[in-house]
Amino acid sequence: MTLQEFKLPPGFFDILPLSKDLWKDSSLWNFIEKNINSMAELYALKEIRAPIVESAKLFERTSGETCEICDKEMYRFLDRSNRMLCLRPEGTAGVLRAFSESNLLSEGDYHRLFYYGPMFRYDRPQKGRYRQHHQFGVEILGSNLPEQDSELISMLMHFYKNVGITDLKVHVNTLGSFDERSSYLKILKEYFQDLKEKLSPLSQKRLETNPLRILDSKEAEDQTIVLEAPSILQHLSTASKERFERILDLLVALNIPYQQDDKLVRGLDYYCHTVFEIKSGSLGAQNSLGGGGRYDGLLSQIGGKDLPGIGFATGIERVIIALLELSVPPLKSYPCQLYMIALGEREKLKALAIIEELRQKGFKVQLQMVDRKLKKALSVANMLKAEYVAILGEEELASKRLTLKNMASKSQTSVSFDKLSEYLQ
Ligand code: HAM
Repeated sequence: MTLQEFKLPPGFFDILPLSKDLWKDSSLWNFIEKNINSMAELYALKEIRAPIVESAKLFERTSGETCEICDKEMYRFLDRSNRMLCLRPEGTAGVLRAFSESNLLSEGDYHRLFYYGPMFRYDRPQKGRYRQHHQFGVEILGSNLPEQDSELISMLMHFYKNVGITDLKVHVNTLGSFDERSSYLKILKEYFQDLKEKLSPLSQKRLETNPLRILDSKEAEDQTIVLEAPSILQHLSTASKERFERILDLLVALNIPYQQDDKLVRGLDYYCHTVFEIKSGSLGAQNSLGGGGRYDGLLSQIGGKDLPGIGFATGIERVIIALLELSVPPLKSYPCQLYMIALGEREKLKALAIIEELRQKGFKVQLQMVDRKLKKALSVANMLKAEYVAILGEEELASKRLTLKNMASKSQTSVSFDKLSEYLQ
């Protein structure tokens, strides 16, 4: 067997300490994860951890069977009992399923939930697009107030600013109620049908499966047709229009720069009313950092109570890549206050006891776990940037005193076992 045979499949990656590829450095991931947890505290979000494997049906029913995430990109497989399962492509449906199965409803009819973890989509890998990616997501159930929509958008902006991303723009649109959305869909289909021959092959396909997604097209030949397509804004009821205008006013009041974008439709079928994406100038083609929208009706579709809902998810890979374009946050160091070298079996036994006691007192210490010549051991301690090296040999064990070397000054002293922590302090 060679390492080549165990190579990771394309689109998957390791997160490593001291990674050469900085965005895969585990200390940057830890930095983002800390920010997620402090956001959760600030915004009173409770965590839900749903499994990575779910029934494939859950996503086909909620995201829409014709949506590309389910149709082409989902990792589906039969388990040994012939159940059709999948690796979750997104977080919302699993969180809502877990919520419906839980007893959380007995706690009231308003819930603020968050999740963090890997998602899987079989798409063509490129910078910012992976087959396993990670999302931080928030789902708020129980409010249909426009103020809730604005708070959620502002929460995501707050998260990006907290981690250090500055060049942000919110793109926002409304899809109206489900009824408005479906009558608009008919109008849109008719419009595109008349121009079918001029559309790109991808959009011709989408005309059959999901015409709304044509508005999202990046193909050159579709651009003028899309630009002249009827806008949802001309097909909204007064109530939906007023709701959307209220949200835009609230964004102004919250100092959130936005761009109204009537071509923004998002790739999942469960949205109604508000949809939004936050883009960063420092990302290339995959410039959408995060996005979300309102999904009233989704919870009852899964079998839960009919609570309105709104949420977002942001891709952590894209957050880190965007952040690194702007600045590099301080990477974690792995401090070592004392590197202990024990020279014999009895000495190792004593050394283990000493370092455990030091750790109990909060010192960051390491015991050399490979037998090395002293010169080599000292160079390892140097690499670890150890402040002190302690040597415990036969003589030291007998006298109950360690030989302690200060790695900066190179001076050497002898310290009794019971005075070691005092000395290090
Ligand atoms: P989404 O826009 O499909 O929404 O994904 C959310 C974010 O995940 C994207 O903005 C992007 O940053 C990241 N992302 C998606 N696919 C990939 C990929 N292949 N590689 C790297 N990053 C990726 C959702 O998933 C919805 N569940 C969001 C939501 C929550 N809506 C309401 N609540």
